[in-house]
Amino acid sequence: MTGPNFFPQFFTTDPGRAAITGSPHDFEAFDIPTLRGIGRTAPYWHNNISETLEDVVSLYSDHLLAKFPSLTLPGEKEPDADGDIGPPEALTKEQKSDLVAFLRRL
Ligand code: HEM
Repeated sequence: MTGPNFFPQFFTTDPGRAAITGSPHDFEAFDIPTLRGIGRTAPYWHNNISETLEDVVSLYSDHLLAKFPSLTLPGEKEPDADGDIGPPEALTKEQKSDLVAFLRRL
């Protein structure tokens, strides 16, 4: 089965909407949640893997947005500090703290 990350997967504990509909088209499909009041609803993601908004933004910067070069800012990338292979983070330290401050105001 291939989900949104396009890597073939043979097992998952997290099939998303496919667990309800049984359709392979819904594999790893999750509703996009509202961000209103997001500062008060920790932990985050459908499986609660992020304790703080800092963790969420860091995950977006390091693993999600960084996979789409068109979303990153040329000349403002920082090298990966955690030894990951793959592209560097998409957001600078300042952009990440600005984003967290913005999310807290929603
Ligand atoms: C920098 C831009 C973005 C920010 C700051 C952001 C913020 C967030 C936050 C805080 C959550 C956790 C919500 C919760 O647990 O209640 C979330 C979840 C989610 N976001 Fe984003 N988001 C961004 C970009 C995107 C984009 C571009 C997409 C889709 C193309 C997207 C799709 C989703 C989905 C599907 C979830 C739910 C995932 C899950 O529960 O596992 N987000 N986002």
